[in-house]
Amino acid sequence: MFMSTQPTIAMYEASAAYLREALKNRGLPMPRTAVILGSGLGTYAASDAVQKELVIPYKEIPHFPITTVSYQKGELTIGVVEGSTVLFFNGRFHYYEGWEMWQAAYPVAVCHLLGVECMLITNAAGGINANTLIPGDLVCVTDHIKLCAESPVRGQNLDVLGTRFFDMQSVYDKSLIAMAKHCAEELGFSLKEGVYAYMTGPQFETPAEIKALRMLGADLVGMSTVPEVIEAAHCQIRVLCISCVTNYAAGVTGNAMTEQEVLDTAAAISDKFCALLHRIIANMTASMQDRMNLPKK
Ligand code: HPA
Repeated sequence: MFMSTQPTIAMYEASAAYLREALKNRGLPMPRTAVILGSGLGTYAASDAVQKELVIPYKEIPHFPITTVSYQKGELTIGVVEGSTVLFFNGRFHYYEGWEMWQAAYPVAVCHLLGVECMLITNAAGGINANTLIPGDLVCVTDHIKLCAESPVRGQNLDVLGTRFFDMQSVYDKSLIAMAKHCAEELGFSLKEGVYAYMTGPQFETPAEIKALRMLGADLVGMSTVPEVIEAAHCQIRVLCISCVTNYAAGVTGNAMTEQEVLDTAAAISDKFCALLHRIIANMTASMQDRMNLPKK
């Protein structure tokens, strides 16, 4: 039935209540920051930079979707970075797996109910703009293009999450982008900027599709992120999105495209990526503490 594919606020509340209880039992303050780790980019949550407090498989969280991508962990790591609680979603949900778009965005709405104000969203992407981007580059997403009709917030609006119609002009937060670029400079490299085009996949794009996306103003292409960003805008969560260019998009070199190339490039830049993430997350949590006037531990 049509309405059976729609989420209810009770579902989101049940997921949030479960996590709130887990945080309380562990004596952890509620998180203000959350991170979604993309394909091949999950190593940060397991690194020593994160003081790990709890690892919860998605299947234990009521109503949570379960990731079906073999190399994505499908677990939530709750950690402490520089004295603040941070949620790390290690594995995400894609439309191409068969999830509805609202399911792809599900963790974002749960984060909102927990009080998260700021999200770092990462992904692997194909580089469309070969004038400025090469595989291995890290790019701040400044805007996106979504050509498919589906939206994670289609259907009855859940007012607890946000308003029916909402602004999409400032979700990619300019001050977070400036902060991220500064972090990269401190680490000795420059973070590029680009517009991300969302394609539903799972097939990679055709050369003609990439040509069209290039003409429309896209620099990067990928199969994730945009459902999450739309839900974040709905919930008024500020987003910083970092893409790792793992390959040239279709038709740029003419070489065959493979998932292995995506994973190999993501693995090759893992150290650089983790160092950047750490600086960014430390800055994000510090700015939240400043805003809330909380003492820094
Ligand atoms: N296209 C779509 N998604 C991707 C790509 C790509 O070229 N690379 C990594 N994710």
